[in-house]
Amino acid sequence: MASPIPPFLLLFLLTIWRGRVESHEEGFITAEISNKGLDFLKGLLIEKAESSLVPLELPKIEKSVKIPVIGSVQMVLSDIIIEKIHVTSSTVRTGDSGIVIDVSGATANLSMKWKYSYSTWLIPISVSDKGNATVQVEGLEVGLALSLKTVEGSLNLSLLECGCNVNNISIKLDGGASWLIDAFEGKISSSVENAVSRKLKDAVVKLDSLLQSLPKEVPVTNIAALNVTFVDDPELTESSLDLEIDGLISAKHEVILSNHYHRLLQNSFSCKEADKMVKISLHEDVLKSGSSVYFEASKMHWMVDKVPDQSLLNTAWWRFIIPQLYKMYPNHDMNLNISVSSSPTIKVEKQQIKAKIPLDLVIDVLDVEEVIPVVCISTVVSASVSAEISQNAVAGGVKLIDFTMSLKWSNIGDLHMRLIQTIMSTTLRTVILPYINLKLSKGFQIPAFHGYELQDAQILCADSWIVICSNVAPVETVQSHLAAIY
Ligand SMILES: *[C@@H]1O[C@H](CO)[C@@H](O)[C@H](O)[C@H]1NC(C)=O
Ligand SMILES: *[C@@H]1O[C@H](CO)[C@@H](O)[C@H](O)[C@H]1NC(C)=O
Ligand SMILES: *[C@@H]1O[C@H](CO)[C@@H](O)[C@H](O)[C@H]1NC(C)=O
Ligand SMILES: *[C@@H]1O[C@H](CO)[C@@H](O)[C@H](O)[C@H]1NC(C)=O
Ligand SMILES: *[C@@H]1O[C@H](CO)[C@@H](O)[C@H](O)[C@H]1NC(C)=O
Ligand SMILES: *[C@@H]1O[C@H](CO)[C@@H](O)[C@H](O)[C@H]1NC(C)=O
Repeated sequence: MASPIPPFLLLFLLTIWRGRVESHEEGFITAEISNKGLDFLKGLLIEKAESSLVPLELPKIEKSVKIPVIGSVQMVLSDIIIEKIHVTSSTVRTGDSGIVIDVSGATANLSMKWKYSYSTWLIPISVSDKGNATVQVEGLEVGLALSLKTVEGSLNLSLLECGCNVNNISIKLDGGASWLIDAFEGKISSSVENAVSRKLKDAVVKLDSLLQSLPKEVPVTNIAALNVTFVDDPELTESSLDLEIDGLISAKHEVILSNHYHRLLQNSFSCKEADKMVKISLHEDVLKSGSSVYFEASKMHWMVDKVPDQSLLNTAWWRFIIPQLYKMYPNHDMNLNISVSSSPTIKVEKQQIKAKIPLDLVIDVLDVEEVIPVVCISTVVSASVSAEISQNAVAGGVKLIDFTMSLKWSNIGDLHMRLIQTIMSTTLRTVILPYINLKLSKGFQIPAFHGYELQDAQILCADSWIVICSNVAPVETVQSHLAAIY
């Protein structure tokens, strides 16, 4: 039997043995898994353990017993197989040095073959018998102490301690002699204890290699990838397990030269409902890194040739505002070629995200077979974005804060910039933003992850951080997706 443990529990002791060393690195995305979230994970792990630990074959047990009058009896148990393990109750919590999972009740069903033989001076021939037996083990207790560390950007899970204890055993024989029960109880118990401990050790090694094999980068779009390298060791508090990943977005397979801004995660900032499973915090630099990838890849430009009011895209509409345009190209259709001229600035503040986007707006006139750029106007749009999550979709709204314009170049002479700015500003507020907001209000579905989705999620903005508090639930049945997490 492995290390002894107190007999009050079947215990998975997940000890995150974190030396209290000051952290040197900080992640741009942190995930805080609450005890409720750990409870959910524990449920998945136990279900997985119940099915993956069995069938578990135990080594043959042989015993020679001296029985008065009869003499020496040879007894053998073979084909001992744990057919089923069932955990009836368990709890999880974070302790001073780790996560503690108490499984306070588990049963196991075993099947086996037994035989015995003896010869005695009383009878000249040897006596033997054999049969099958089923064994029920109750009060199976297991203790695991695990350490979870960050090694070269991956989580490293290792076993510190493992113990297993059988409390009660009841043997049913198909035929045979009842004295077998007394003879083998202890041996079967210790054999079960050893086998379960060994199997759990293997399972931890497998789980560790699964963690090692997790990619350090996950694609978010066809050109951008999120750096999911773990930084710093997982941190354990009374009520949660905190994980930090680098979290910056870079062009796929390109190392980003990120300046590590000073970041200070507001620990006091917590979810309104404390009983959410997970709290994910995204630093505003995640958004910055994402937008700069798109800027560098010149993906931030749009050709606008359709608007809700199509007459806006004809020189006739502009004849009083830009008369020379109408004079040179009467009743010509127009395009707007909009491109982001330098990397947008993004700032996360209380309950809103502020973005300042410098744009170049080129007015193209569509001539018979030609697209003629006539004017380029530089603008800076300042807007605030708010977001909320409802029913697994992110919805948002944009509000214009400020809008400035200046003429960059013109092939049609000077323009009345003040007049144009007034009209553009009005158009933005009354036509373009309501149109964008209508689209945003419909929301974007958050994709399910390996069969699990967010539930009752809340999104909050605080100084430099976007915080998502959520529960996690299986999309359909848990069973069909259990394979996915392994
Ligand atoms: C395990 O044993 C118990 C008690 O003998 C029995 O009720 C249960 O059906 C068994 N389970 C399996 C899967 O054999
Ligand atoms: C024991 O079970 C096996 C199948 O598991 C069966 O073939 C065999 O006949 C059984 N033996 C006795 C003595 O019941
Ligand atoms: C994980 O940690 C254990 C114990 O410290 C060590 O033996 C193992 O080599 C580590 N694995 C990796 C991939 O670093
Ligand atoms: C062991 O199990 C038997 C049968 O299930 C039960 O009668 C007995 O009280 C149990 N003993 C202990 C110590 O739990
Ligand atoms: C990902 O983040 C880690 C830790 O911050 C860093 O060392 C690594 O260079 C980053 N990888 C890329 C591709 O940016
Ligand atoms: C749009 O304008 C940018 C400059 O602002 C220019 O580089 C690009 O070629 C233009 N695109 C089209 C399709 O005219």
